[in-house]
Amino acid sequence: MATATHLHGRIGESIKRKEDARFLRGKGNYLDDFVLPNMLHMAIFRSPHAHARIKSIDTSAAGAMPGVIAVVTGELMAQHKLAWMPTLSGDTQAVLATDKVRFQGQEVAAVIAETKYLAEDARDAIIVDYEVLPAVTSPDGAKTAGAPLIRDEKEGQKDNHIYHWESGNQATTQAAFAKAHKVVRLHTFYPRCHPAPLETCGCIADVNGATGKATIYMTSQAPHAIRTVFALVTGLPEQQIRIISPDIGGGFGNKVPVYPGYVVATAASLLIGRPVKWVEDRTENLISTGFARDYHMTGDLAVDEKGKMLALRVHLDSDNGAFFADAQPSKFKAGLFHIVTGSYDIPTAHVTADGYYTNKAPGGVAYRCSFRVTEASYLIERLVTNAAIELGLDQAEFRKQNFIKPEQFPYTSATGWVYDSGDYPKAMDVALEKLGYAELRKDVERRRKQGEVTGIGIASFTEVVGAGHGAEFDILGLRMFDSAELRIHPTGKGLLRMGVKSQGQGHETTFAQIVTEELGIPANDIAVEEGDTDTAPYGLGTYASRSTPVAGAATAMVSRKLREKARKIAAHLLEAAEEDLEWEVGRFYVKGSPDRAKTIQEIAFAAYTNLPEGLEAGLEGVHYYDPPNMTYPFGTYAVVVDIDKGTGQVKVRRMVAVDDCGVRINPMIVEGQIHGGLTEGFGIAFMELITFDSDGNCIGSNFMDYLLPTAWETPRFEMGETVTPSPHHPLGAKGVGESATVGSPAAYVNAVIDALSPYGITNIDMPVGPDKVWAALRKAGVTE
Ligand code: CDP
Repeated sequence: MATATHLHGRIGESIKRKEDARFLRGKGNYLDDFVLPNMLHMAIFRSPHAHARIKSIDTSAAGAMPGVIAVVTGELMAQHKLAWMPTLSGDTQAVLATDKVRFQGQEVAAVIAETKYLAEDARDAIIVDYEVLPAVTSPDGAKTAGAPLIRDEKEGQKDNHIYHWESGNQATTQAAFAKAHKVVRLHTFYPRCHPAPLETCGCIADVNGATGKATIYMTSQAPHAIRTVFALVTGLPEQQIRIISPDIGGGFGNKVPVYPGYVVATAASLLIGRPVKWVEDRTENLISTGFARDYHMTGDLAVDEKGKMLALRVHLDSDNGAFFADAQPSKFKAGLFHIVTGSYDIPTAHVTADGYYTNKAPGGVAYRCSFRVTEASYLIERLVTNAAIELGLDQAEFRKQNFIKPEQFPYTSATGWVYDSGDYPKAMDVALEKLGYAELRKDVERRRKQGEVTGIGIASFTEVVGAGHGAEFDILGLRMFDSAELRIHPTGKGLLRMGVKSQGQGHETTFAQIVTEELGIPANDIAVEEGDTDTAPYGLGTYASRSTPVAGAATAMVSRKLREKARKIAAHLLEAAEEDLEWEVGRFYVKGSPDRAKTIQEIAFAAYTNLPEGLEAGLEGVHYYDPPNMTYPFGTYAVVVDIDKGTGQVKVRRMVAVDDCGVRINPMIVEGQIHGGLTEGFGIAFMELITFDSDGNCIGSNFMDYLLPTAWETPRFEMGETVTPSPHHPLGAKGVGESATVGSPAAYVNAVIDALSPYGITNIDMPVGPDKVWAALRKAGVTE
């Protein structure tokens, strides 16, 4: 009998990840591991130019090469009304270019051949004649009078402007600024970077000529949503489309959008009648799939003479690339608005955002982020540190003075979002104590007197994850609920199927643990399946740390549904009234007689063998969970840096990370998530950059130029935690996957700016490479 004391995998237990048994043995099933009978391979021909009119495409030599089955162009796609497709933001995007190319790396044609190498050789034989046009590579360039019109095919589009959005209250914000003692301004650029998952994107499309059913294996974080988009684009009935997302080697938002390669491979399989595989190489992934950030932001913070924050004003220009393909809900605008005021009780705010087309790759995905909250967190945390420095206040004290107080929750922010719970001073105190802040501050002063360049940076971020309540959140109109279907077999083992899709986050372990907690079945007895639209219940997928807040809640709720049925069966078996039964994890017993009990396994067997009169057989159910609100995890990160004056090299001496994600299902997995996020934050702060020359050539198209941190560069992390449960989540859990990527870049950069502040240096945009630091020190007269 499973008893509460010996139950394996309850919430809070750091059990080992079930999925690692196959990953560590090299037995995972990633897309490129699949080989279907008769399978063909596809290679995509991409534009070398950022902006050019297509005069002609000659595919004759490529088509004549041995092993080539077909060469697909935009013209052929247009005959099937598939040359353009809708984006997740309601714009249109070229599948294969017909008129112009609008970014370097854009899809122009595709070769389908017997092998990958034949396809790639033939691709090189395609000849395209272009008329090269001037390129636009920044929002400033896009808004210049006389700038080339990028989207000239769009009816009514007269310039490169996409949208203007506003949030907050302009009048009250203006009034607060008018009476401010001090206004601190920060202009900063959050540069374009890339999620760069270990596994690139790809698919195998297999359209069965006899049944008409399209089975598409795809590296998708959101298989159901993709199925619906495919049904809408192709007109195929939804039950004739099966998306299977197998094991995925990292997504981070990169695998949310629909990419042209998916559409072309599916069309090719339909036309040819054989499976078609397409897998990107690294450069294709970096130059053509969903980038992140690329926000130019200006923030003004108004403060009174006592250091109380009065108001915040923000304007941003967003560089969206050639097609507006951000993955974002339609009802609210930039996710930046949600937490732009951060962890601070700022009475009023006004935010404006303008989006622009440029000749750069589309797809501003929220890289390990909820709809651009990373940019918001970076801006407010950088601004607050700059304000503290300018006002001559201690960074930590200034934050504490202005924190939303624990008793103010639920707290409605100046932009109208309701933070569910938080205890910011506590997380800050744990971090400062771990760091030994007071002593360190004195040490910094001592070292500075000796000529050292050293500093401490703090970021007390608030995050918002778990999209979301369906009333506010949707993708192309689909409400952002999520689902769990639980089936308990007669032997008391179970199968849990989810609408979300792990890309390495450990769902097979943590969701099983939720069932363990709710039903008392050991975690190893619960198999978790995700990613097959023919078997999984409909869900919106995994991104934006929404799995635990939404699908985790659905798992708890479906388990509770089953427990209610189990109560009826237990009452029948124990010949007692339902209300006389008491639940303790794993069994029902008769109140006052703990020995008169039935375990969940005994009840499961009875569900198929010995039921009370009139009760339906089986022990299974499904729950679709539409959360009442988002969850708001938070934390304080603190970084100590030393800077080499001669080279500008920044060394992170210490990094303390205190996170609060409410109740932790599996603390080890949570810690792993935070480690990963802190590493990515470190890379973004110091190393990663995709940039473009004035002709729109992408610089940063491979891992020689686009620098990712390895274990060598990455600092050691000192972890801490506080636990403030979410009041509306059935388990009190909040999401955590993205927190460290959202919160840490500002902490790293704040440390650098603190170190440089004695020299009057107030900002260096990321990535903070030695070249920029050295140049700033030299300008300040510190370095020769
Ligand atoms: O949506 P995604 O899976 O990326 O993010 P998440 O919900 O933050 O979960 C990431 C991983 O951490 C999952 O395995 C979660 O179940 C686990 N987690 C946890 O154990 N406890 C929490 N409070 C939050 C997440």
